[in-house]
Amino acid sequence: MRVIAIDGPAGSGKSTIARHLATELGVAYLDTGAMYRAVAFAALRRGVDPGESDLVAAIVRDLELEIGPDGVVVDGVDATVEIRGPEVTKAVSAVAANPVVRAELVRRQREWVASRGSAVVEGRDIGTVVFPDAELKAYLTARLDVRAGRRHQEVSDLDYDAVAADMARRDTVDTEREVDPLQQAGDAVLIDTSDRSIDEIVADLMERL
Ligand code: DC
Repeated sequence: MRVIAIDGPAGSGKSTIARHLATELGVAYLDTGAMYRAVAFAALRRGVDPGESDLVAAIVRDLELEIGPDGVVVDGVDATVEIRGPEVTKAVSAVAANPVVRAELVRRQREWVASRGSAVVEGRDIGTVVFPDAELKAYLTARLDVRAGRRHQEVSDLDYDAVAADMARRDTVDTEREVDPLQQAGDAVLIDTSDRSIDEIVADLMERL
């Protein structure tokens, strides 16, 4: 089994780099953030407050979740577009702070990769918790203005200041939560993506394999 772990905050370039690296290596790509988003989507769809930890824990236990290269299916409903929307984005940090949700999703992430043999896996705790023995761990960062600028381009219906403020809020929740907070693994390569091209970063990582 070959696992490459890509961690870092929102807008650091994780998804882009992880996708390119997976293509380059000819292995699967798993976006674990999409799984947390899928749980938040399921809670909202059932009218459950994402902060109600017991109710959200009950949802995740028997949630039907399919993560593929083309999208995300939650309980038979295609949620690919909606999990990126503002409602889910607002709700997801509370869901990701829930220890029952984390335990269940970590279990599913290991299973997903094991069944495919190898993968590039992106998230917040991949190198620290999910795959501590990954062949290569990268922790991506970028300046807040750069990260907010990237996200703003993706969700152009929100103004830049709102995107930057929401990102700063999520950074705080993700790094300060008690269960598996966002942090750099001791043996991860730290890469600032603010002023480097995608090709350059992918080539750099390929050289380290
Ligand atoms: O990468 P993203 O923005 O799609 O992640 C959505 C949320 O899920 C974000 O608030 C952090 C959380 N997350 C996490 O706690 N652990 C992961 N492995 C992946 C994402």
